Amino acid sequence: MNQASSRDKPPKQRVSNREFLRSFFQDYKTVGAIRETSRGVARKICELANIPSSTRVAEFGCGTGPITGEILAQLPEDGLLWGYEVHEPFAEHLRQTIDDERFHLYEESATNIIEHRRDASLPPFDAVISTIPFSYLSHQQSTALLHAVIDTMSDDGVFVALQYHPTYLPPLLHRHFDSVTRDIYLWNVPPANLFKATKPRRL
Ligand SMILES: C[S@@+](CC[C@H](N)C(=O)[O-])C[C@H]1O[C@@H](n2cnc3c(N)ncnc32)[C@H](O)[C@@H]1O
Repeated sequence: MNQASSRDKPPKQRVSNREFLRSFFQDYKTVGAIRETSRGVARKICELANIPSSTRVAEFGCGTGPITGEILAQLPEDGLLWGYEVHEPFAEHLRQTIDDERFHLYEESATNIIEHRRDASLPPFDAVISTIPFSYLSHQQSTALLHAVIDTMSDDGVFVALQYHPTYLPPLLHRHFDSVTRDIYLWNVPPANLFKATKPRRL
C-alpha cells in the first residue's frame, strides 16, 4: 500500500477471521476480541474522535489495523498517529501493511506513551483511541492505562474507547472525566460499546 492509497481508503480484509481467532485463543486477555473491528465501527470511532480536525492522535491496541487504517484515511496530511500494539503477530502485520510516514508503531504497552511523549517533547494529543479490553485487566493496570490517556490528551482533547463489556469501564471514566457518553453499535460482532470521554480531571 502506498501513502496516497492509505489516505483514500483503508484496506479491507487484513487477516483472516481464523488467524484472528487463533490469536484470541493464544492470549485472550490481551487480544480481547474474536475478530477485528468492522469498518462501520471504525468510522464511528473516527467521527466521535473528530479525526479530520486532529493533528496528533494516539491509538492504544492497533491489532491488525482496521481502526488505524480508517484514522489514516481521515487524518490531515500533516497529522501524526502513534500506535501501540503488544501482540507480536499483529505488530508484524501492521509493519507489513502500513506504509505511511504519519504512522509510528510502538511494539510495547500503551502505558509507555507518557515517556515517549516526554522524550519527543511533543505537546498533548487531540485524540486518544483505545480498544484495549479493560475488563480483563487488573484494577492497577486499568488505572495505569487511564493515567496514560489523561497524561497524553489535551484539556480539550477526546478519549474514545471501544469495549465489549458494557459496565466495567464507565465507573472508572466517571472518576477521571467530567463528561462521559456512550453509544452502542449493534452492527458489529459482538455489538460494540463506544465510550467518549472529555474534560479530563488532572489530579
Ligand atoms: C480488542 S483488540 C482490538 C484490535 C483492533 N484495534 C481492532 O479494533 O480490531 C485489543 C488490542 O489491544 C492490544 N493490547 C492489549 N493490551 C495492550 C497494551 N497494554 N498496550 C498496547 N496494546 C495492547 C491487543 O494485543 C489487541 O490487539
